[in-house]
Amino acid sequence: MKFSLPIFFLTMVSLMNGCGDSNRDYGSELYTKHCANCHGIQGQGLQDLYPPLKGADYLIENQRDLSCLILYGIEGEIVVNGRSFNEKMPSIPHLSHVDLTNIINYISKNIEPSVNRVTLKTVKNRIYDCK
Ligand code: HEC
Repeated sequence: MKFSLPIFFLTMVSLMNGCGDSNRDYGSELYTKHCANCHGIQGQGLQDLYPPLKGADYLIENQRDLSCLILYGIEGEIVVNGRSFNEKMPSIPHLSHVDLTNIINYISKNIEPSVNRVTLKTVKNRIYDCK
């Protein structure tokens, strides 16, 4: 009986994590791996270095270009919510169209709801049009 409580919790934790791949949240994994280091786990940004994603007017206004921005990075001065940023965001060229779709939909759902959800087809079309 002494061990039953820890075993109960371990069982719950493994159930919550999902034993099969079907429960994996790829958007969350990709965001954590590729974006959170700079933009923060909640998209809050980091001082004058990395702009926020949450509530970011730049992101909301330029959401059509988000796939291209993630793939190719961005540099030069930009203004986000009235604050100026001028650091280089590196390109992340190895991301697939599916990865990009998952990242954008993760942002839409968890970080900035004014970013619309996208389909794989939309992402493909937008990448075709990257300037
Ligand atoms: C190495 C740090 C770094 C990583 C990793 C990174 N960014 Fe950025 N990001 C930046 C910087 C710096 C800028 C500002 C660029 C400038 O000043 O021109 C920026 C700008 C942006 C902007 C436009 C400004 C805004 O906040 O609206 C968006 C959107 C954005 N990043 C999204 C992402 C997403 C999504 C990911 C993950 C796929 C990501 N970034 C990964 C550093 C990073």
